[in-house]
Amino acid sequence: MKSYLLHITCSTSDERLPIDQPVNNTCPDGGIIECHYDIERMKSDVTKDDIAAGPASLWRYAPILPAQDPDHAVTLGEGWTPMLRAPKLEKLLGCKEIWVKDEGRNPSGTFKDRGATVAATRFRELGIKTVVHNSSGNAGGSWAMYCARAGIDCVNLLAEDSLISSLQQSSLAGAKTYMVQGHWKHAGAMVQRAADEHGWFNCGTLKEPYRLEGKKTMGWEIAEQLGWELPDAVFYPTGGGVGAIGIFKAFKEAQSLGWINDGNHKPRLVVTQYEGCAPLVKAFREGKDETVTWEDMNVLPGGLKSPKPPGDKEVLRTLRETEGAAIAVSSDESIEAAKLLIRLEGVFPCPESATTLAGLLRAIEDGSVNKDERIVLMITGSGLKSIPNFPEPDLIPIEAGTDVPGN
Ligand SMILES: Cc1ncc(COP(=O)(O)O)c(C=O)c1O
Repeated sequence: MKSYLLHITCSTSDERLPIDQPVNNTCPDGGIIECHYDIERMKSDVTKDDIAAGPASLWRYAPILPAQDPDHAVTLGEGWTPMLRAPKLEKLLGCKEIWVKDEGRNPSGTFKDRGATVAATRFRELGIKTVVHNSSGNAGGSWAMYCARAGIDCVNLLAEDSLISSLQQSSLAGAKTYMVQGHWKHAGAMVQRAADEHGWFNCGTLKEPYRLEGKKTMGWEIAEQLGWELPDAVFYPTGGGVGAIGIFKAFKEAQSLGWINDGNHKPRLVVTQYEGCAPLVKAFREGKDETVTWEDMNVLPGGLKSPKPPGDKEVLRTLRETEGAAIAVSSDESIEAAKLLIRLEGVFPCPESATTLAGLLRAIEDGSVNKDERIVLMITGSGLKSIPNFPEPDLIPIEAGTDVPGN
């Protein structure tokens, strides 16, 4: 299936950007570089059945992705991840409907693969040779793998405390892997300087339009997997903001195509963050439309290390537009929530993604979520990426050859 990409704009300036050349800049005033599609032509050419007949990967949404030749996508089989009903959790919490979207099943272990597959595909089409970016770990591992597959050189500036899983992915996949020592908030500017100096493509958060398009497929999948209905609330562990923005972009696209059964239904966005780095929660509570850089970051190694989220204005706008909520939880709460999810439902989340469940527990307590709602918890990464963050396993030594006691 071909792409119906029509044009690329900057949301704050109405500037039209070229679709056939690399777009690598930022919009003024925290705007978003956005891909737009020919919705009218898609309406007459493409049906939901065409999508259902597509591959069991996010490439089933090729008509509404920017790659021009999806048959030659840089793919490792990402997306179309399980959307699992969580009956034991529903019973425990007295909720009517809780769904868990298990993004840990992506090739590198996190949802970052969605952005990487679409961006690497488009970069290769556009002839980009080297990309550079900064990451708290998960995106670094993912981009290294997709760049290896695409034949693109990758330079990663990773956080000093990145988890070993991400460091190994990045380095084994052949990315030049730097560890940024000192304050993480300087990493973005280092990447921009390196890109300017060496002519590399800066694929940092929201510096280009393709990563967002990949991440938005989470929203497309939620809609399709719920039988073309939208949930009432989506809990999203938010760092830079791309995933949350993408999910709600997808909902709007699906609604504008007329594919959603109740076209007026408005899901709420619930942002979850760690208390040790919660610029979005703070700004939302204070009624601000922009975040202030979070100075003393104190979070577990892994994602959600975004002291000044590049997508802050758009996320805050979406929170207000959807009458959403923003909840900060402690690291301990997220570890406990991860343990609860694996024990009750068998899904093993990384702690940063378990902030969604920890956030739901808080939301139930303070009444900001209605127990009758259809709730989706985004589990953006696997616990396998994050083993060092978990407590030692509970093990019982037993002598070889002795009898195992009954339960
Ligand atoms: C596992 C995981 N979940 C969520 C996020 C948040 O990403 P974003 O808000 O940019 O979509 C990150 C990265 O920070 C992550 O690694």
